[in-house]
Amino acid sequence: MEKLFVCKVCGHIEFGSAPEMCPVCMAKSFTENPDAIMPAEKEGKEKHVPVVTTSASCGLIPGECKDVFIKVGSVAHPMQDDHWIQWVDLYINKKFAARSQFAPSSIQAATCVHVKKDTTGEVTVIEHCNKHGNWMAKTTLP
Ligand SMILES: [Fe+2]
Repeated sequence: MEKLFVCKVCGHIEFGSAPEMCPVCMAKSFTENPDAIMPAEKEGKEKHVPVVTTSASCGLIPGECKDVFIKVGSVAHPMQDDHWIQWVDLYINKKFAARSQFAPSSIQAATCVHVKKDTTGEVTVIEHCNKHGNWMAKTTLP
């Protein structure tokens, strides 16, 4: 299995090797953790495994995007002051591409990332729940 490295400051995960600097928070301190991501079949998966869908066309930047839509859980995860989805990180071909960060007050655990139209390959999404850790899903760009 591929090695996982976790940023000690912001929790961002990198695949394969630790980068010199965290692409999210610029920290230079990673720790290897083979258990950083919850197994896909673990209890609670319905509310934590991201649901990732794509669209080959975009209404916001027509002709220039492929859209990746992400919601956390096939059953919507709670967004409460003591239990919420803190962020969603998106990778393209295992390279970090975007983070959506959430406060629990008025936000649903969902986001959209606008990917350049000529980009191809695999999308990986990792979400972080403050109580239940990191959960992952994958799909392929259209
Ligand atoms: Fe949770």
